[in-house]
Formats: sequence, structure tokens, C-alpha cells
Amino acid sequence: MCGIIGYTGPLDSKKILLEGLSQLEYRGYDSAGIALCMENSRIHLVRHTGKVSNLKKGCEEINQVSHCGLGHTRWATHGGVTTENTHPHRAGRVILVHNGIIENYHQLTTEFHLEGKLLSETDSEVAAWVLESLYDGDPVKAIAELVKHLKGSYSFCMMFEDHPGEIYAIRNVSPLVAAYTHSGSFVASDLTALIPYTRQYFVVPEDHILRLTSYKVHLYGLDLKELEPEILEVNWNMDAAMKNGFPHFMLKEIHEQPDALKNTILPRLAKGLPDFTDDLIPDFVFEDCDQVHIIACGTAMHAGMAARALMEPLLRIPVTVSIASEFRYEDPLVNDRTIVIIISQSGETIDTLAALRLAKSYGSKTLSVVNVKGSTIARESDYVLYTHAGPEIAVASTKAYSVQLAALYMVCCRMALVRGKYSVEEAEDFMKKLLDSIPAMEAMIEKKDTVKALVTHLINKPDAFFIGRGLDYAFSLEGALKLKEISYIHAEAYAAGELKHGTIALITQEVPVIAIATQENVFSKTISNIREVKARGAFVILLTKESLNVDPGIADIQINIPDIGDRFTVFPIAVVLQLIAYYASVGKNLDVDQPRNLAKSVTVE
Ligand code: F6R
Repeated sequence: MCGIIGYTGPLDSKKILLEGLSQLEYRGYDSAGIALCMENSRIHLVRHTGKVSNLKKGCEEINQVSHCGLGHTRWATHGGVTTENTHPHRAGRVILVHNGIIENYHQLTTEFHLEGKLLSETDSEVAAWVLESLYDGDPVKAIAELVKHLKGSYSFCMMFEDHPGEIYAIRNVSPLVAAYTHSGSFVASDLTALIPYTRQYFVVPEDHILRLTSYKVHLYGLDLKELEPEILEVNWNMDAAMKNGFPHFMLKEIHEQPDALKNTILPRLAKGLPDFTDDLIPDFVFEDCDQVHIIACGTAMHAGMAARALMEPLLRIPVTVSIASEFRYEDPLVNDRTIVIIISQSGETIDTLAALRLAKSYGSKTLSVVNVKGSTIARESDYVLYTHAGPEIAVASTKAYSVQLAALYMVCCRMALVRGKYSVEEAEDFMKKLLDSIPAMEAMIEKKDTVKALVTHLINKPDAFFIGRGLDYAFSLEGALKLKEISYIHAEAYAAGELKHGTIALITQEVPVIAIATQENVFSKTISNIREVKARGAFVILLTKESLNVDPGIADIQINIPDIGDRFTVFPIAVVLQLIAYYASVGKNLDVDQPRNLAKSVTVE
């Protein structure tokens, strides 16, 4: 949520900032701006509403080369989408960009007598003026003082007009990574902006101040003592963050799923069994617990719903799924006998992070399933299972969902094994079937033209319904979310048997119903529910398995996935649901990768 970049060094900072902002744009695209330190030490601001492309046009006339600057792409929180609210903000000698929310900005406005000074409606400009009030020529000291006054979450990147060529930064909750290279020093919200210049970086620790000069990055604690950062190595390359011939990142990422699954599963297979030795997750974590509590947001939460439907019947212990933003304000029934599984692609979703911290305060063991290495959630969890999807750039999550599922399936299998619910042979069979889901996904990717053809029945419709039972219901939830977020078609997922308790009133002629029926134990029941909607005129798109017999005429369109074990059908079904949403968005000529009002990585409440 909001992308930040800062650079100082021998290269052209305008070019670096604009390219970096394009890489970070998926974090927010309401408006964008840059601040450039010019030769005479004057700082020049350019800010534009809309996408980074607007900013790029606005920067065309800048001919003077600058070697130091910072940039921001905004997802609006405080104040509308206007040029005044666009970052960077200037407050006297201070130039500042911000990601996060300053909760006490109102109180600070009064305390620091800022009425009359503020040109925007943002909490960020308030922070800039507070910093200016505290600044006596020593930026590090002023920043350390500033954060004592703030409540909320932030990553700030700052320049001071009397310290040309230097960039300062600090973070609390909201993410920042930094690097120093032969081409200069960089700081950014995430690695995608740094990766063209370096493979080595460090995660800026919370409440530590960064000072970037053109040849070194200095890190200070709030006590102003200098520290050495812990350098990490990136394990993916720039190709992973490019479209590589695909029209959209989302389509590319759908195609990447089979490889992402292999990368996540295969390194953790030992003699055909799931093995988390290299992840440093000991078996007692899975043995010494009598309940599992899964916590996440959005798509990651839907992965948790599918995992719950798999785990509970197998493990015979309670498995609960909570929405992180709800859990964090509850008095939850978790304790030291609970394993809390936190799922997050970014590892920085603020509600999920707060839920993790709450679960830890109750003494629960925390295991996070995270895609971004070194992210806050990963670092704060007792145990981490990294998924290896590579960078996910499209705002709508696809490959991150599949690998989260794969990781959770492996956890489930390992738990069943160590808790005596599975014999070695049964666990091997489970893993074999999990691997079978990879070619099944490939087969559905191959069928993408069939899916493309069916969306003509969707794109002009205001509503769509997704129904299924058991695991199929868990998959439906994700199908509906994907469709609404990128095609703006109102979509609801219903447990198929629940529809007739009210929602069936909405089923009229030609209303699209996407019915998922891959679970043999409830297959005939779901088919009955399909008959009920069909009898009311619905246009039924049925997703089922090749081997399941469907009477002719039940569905208007039928898509078969290959015959794989019932528990594993989510993988090929996910591909079909993602493609439905993708082609519906393309068919409506919408911005597939950056849908309206959304941003990747929700770092504000
Ligand atoms: C939807 C989507 C979101 C995320 C959610 C959690 O396509 O991507 O619903 O799943 O914002 O994000 P992470 O997994 O980064 O915590």
C-alpha cells in the first residue's frame, strides 16, 4: 500500500525513481510524485494524479540531471485523489513521502500549531511539519525525536534541503528494504524496485533510521548508535518481475503456477514424505497441540478455508479460520496448545501482523506461510514456511494462492503422519496425489481458450453466483472474490445447500451460476442444487471431474478437470476460476493488473 523509493548516487535519479515507481505501482496507483535534488541544492517536486505514466509525462521537461531524489506512488487514505494530497510533501526544509497511517495527526496539528500551514488533507504532511519543527540541522536526531510523537504505522523517506545528496528513512510496521551498490544507494518499499541494481539487500529493521549517501547506507538505532545491517540475497531474478511477452502479469502468473508448485513442494520432499527439517520446523510443533487456528485476509484466508476443510476431518482436532481484521480485536480462544497458522503472500498485511502478535501474546505457537522473504510476518513468527511463487505483481493473487495451498496441504500431511492419523504409505500416497495436481493445472492452462469463450455469458451480467459443497464451497469463495475484484461483476459464493434459505430469490432468467462439483461424497447433492437454480432459469457453468457422470441438460456449459483425488481438485479448479475472472476483465476492457480502489499489500487498517 503506497510505494516508496529513494536513490542517491552517480546515476540519473529521475530515471531510477520513475522506473522504480513503475515497478512499485501495484502497491497503489491513485497518484504519484518525485522530489529531485538539483545542482543548486534546490529540491524540485513533480506530482500528478493518476498512474505513474502521467508523472512520467510531467517529468519530460526536466532537463537538468539530478543524482538524488525520492518518489512515491499513492493509495489514498487521508484525503482524496488530488495533486495537493500527492506525495512528496514539502514542509520548510523537509521533503517527505509516507506509507502508512498517522493516527494522531489531528492532535499533532494542534500541538505543533500547524493550522494554516497545511496545504493538503493528509496525515503525512502533518508528519512532515512536525519533523520540520523538531529539526535543528541534525536529521538523524530530528527523526528519532519525530517518532516519539507519532502513533500509527509508517515508512518515511525524507530529504533535507540543507543536506543535499542524502536520503533519510525510518519505518514502523510498513515495509522498507535498502541496498548499497556500485551504482549508488537505494531504499524502497519492496525488492522489485531494487532488483535491477543489486541482488544484495537488507530489510530495514523497525524503528531504525537510515542515512543514504551516494556510496554507503548508514543504519542507526533510536539511541543514534550506528549498527551493521544484516545483508540478504535475493533468490529470484528480474525476469520474474517482467511480463515476458504476456499481455498482463495476471495471465503470466496463472501460467507460472505449475512451476511455483514444484518449487514449493519438491525441496520439501524426502523419500516421498513432507519434510520441514530445512525450514527448521520440528515435529513437536505439530504433535503438541490440540487445535489449529488459521488467520489471514482475502485470498490467503480462502486458502485457509480450503485447508480447514481438508485438515479437520483428517486430523480430528478443531481447525478454525479467522479473518485477521476480526481476530485482532477479539478475545480469542487460543492458548499454548494452539498452533496458529498465519498466511500472507506479502508478509506485511497489517491486520494479519496484528493477529500474529495477538496470538503470540496468548502463548500460541505461530507458523507463517509467507511468500516474501524477510518480511515482518516471517520474521516475527516462531516458524516460517516460505512459499516459492516468486514476485506476484498482479494485484489479484493467483500463484500465491496455489502455493499457499500446497504448503498447507504439506503441513496437513505431516501433521497426519506425526499424529498417527496417516501411515507412511498413506502419507506417500497423499504427496503423490498432490504432485498429480501439477499436470492437472497444466491441462487447465492449456484449455484457456475454452474458458475465454464462456465469459461471453458473464461479462454483460451484473451478478454471478458461485456454489459448491465442502471443499468445493471453499474454492467458490475464491472464485467469487477473483471475479469481483477484477471484472467488477457482483459475485457471491454460497454453500450450495444454503442457497434456498434466501439467496435463491436472486436467481432469475440467465443469471450466471458457476457450480463446482468435484467432491464425490456430496456430488449428487450439489447436482440437486444445480437443478434447483436451473429450474429458475439460471445459466449454469458446471466445473466438475471427467469421471463424474452428469446428466445432459443440467448445465449450459460444462468444464471437466482431469481425474485427480477429490482433495486435490482445488489446484486445477483454481486455474479455471482465475481464467474466468481474467477473461471477464479483459472482455470488459478493464485494468486487469491494477483494478480500481485496490492495492497489493494492505499495510493500513
Ligand atoms: C486478492 C488478494 C487479497 C490478498 C489479501 C492478503 O486477490 O490478493 O485478498 O490475498 O490482501 O494479502 P497477503 O497475502 O499479502 O497478506
